Amino acid sequence: KLRVLSGMQPSGQLTLGNYIGALKNYVKLQHTHDCYFMVVDLHAITVPQDPAALREQSESVAAVYLAAGIDPNTATVFLQSSVKAHAELGWLLTTLTYMGELERMTQFKDKSEGKESVGAGLFTYPSLMAGDILLYNADLVPVGEDQRQHLELTRDLAHRFNTRFSETFKIPQGYIPEVGARIMSLDDASKKMSKSSPNAGSYIALLDAPDVIRKKISRAVTDSGREVKYDPQNKPEVSNLISIYTQCTDLSIAEVEAKYEGQGYGPFKKDLAEAVVGLLEPIQQRYREIRESGELHDILRSGRDRAEAAAEATIREVKQKMGFVQL
Ligand code: TYM
Repeated sequence: KLRVLSGMQPSGQLTLGNYIGALKNYVKLQHTHDCYFMVVDLHAITVPQDPAALREQSESVAAVYLAAGIDPNTATVFLQSSVKAHAELGWLLTTLTYMGELERMTQFKDKSEGKESVGAGLFTYPSLMAGDILLYNADLVPVGEDQRQHLELTRDLAHRFNTRFSETFKIPQGYIPEVGARIMSLDDASKKMSKSSPNAGSYIALLDAPDVIRKKISRAVTDSGREVKYDPQNKPEVSNLISIYTQCTDLSIAEVEAKYEGQGYGPFKKDLAEAVVGLLEPIQQRYREIRESGELHDILRSGRDRAEAAAEATIREVKQKMGFVQL
């Protein structure tokens, strides 16, 4: 079986963008691949986090994974910080990464822009992510469009290590959806939907109550026309909503356009809201059951044990090849 690894930061509530861009594919791939899905809490602290909030968000993200349909007996679900080898390989790969490579990362440029003090962790973040992936020798990495550049660096680092120290790492491939790899903000279609946005109206959280979802969609920005047409260049807001629609139902873009021909945005937005609510309500119900069951820590402990076992062989081989004394 090919191996899959991916993760999400517990830096806020997971959004519909996280679901459509990545989580949906986690759920799909678990049936055919050997999957590792983690909560990347070590990445979350590259910007300041309140400790109590970080703990709560980390558990919440893990519970959302399960609620969305990841079976912890099929896939390995764990916390990044619970497997020490992530920090260890992250450091080892940091020493192989060039400053220039990190300076070119658009996520770093976006997150550091205009800030007075920028944490060094935000800068070396991609090396830690490369370590996450290479630790498990993953073949496939399901992510959204915004992670493409980090994946490219991961591939370069794997190749660099192999060239310098002999063949060790597989070169991983991204698994990026054709539609929905970049869901945009509801208030500004030039920005991606983000869980760390200060404006809660700009995203739909997977745990938003149905009425909140309805309100957010009814207030979503659209152009002044009335044609439900997929045209990202000229109608980016409506096109984004159409993408969301197709990802929450089984309709194609053409089918959505045909369904609302000559009807304006009102009926389209109403149905879209119901489609999103219909998708998320069962997930929210399972989420509450999982949180109330008290089983989460047991699941994360068993995930940690399985992940540790898989990581162990890699870290030993890497350290041996780099020249650390083996005791
Ligand atoms: P993060 O936490 O920002 O996002 C989690 C996943 O959701 C995708 N995503 C989106 N997809 C479509 N539209 C959007 N608006 C949208 N926003 C986010 C992201 O592409 C991602 O797949 N660096 C990663 C976390 C990470 C990781 C890893 C991922 C750390 N180590 C190893 C894969 C493998 C991140 O910040 O994701």
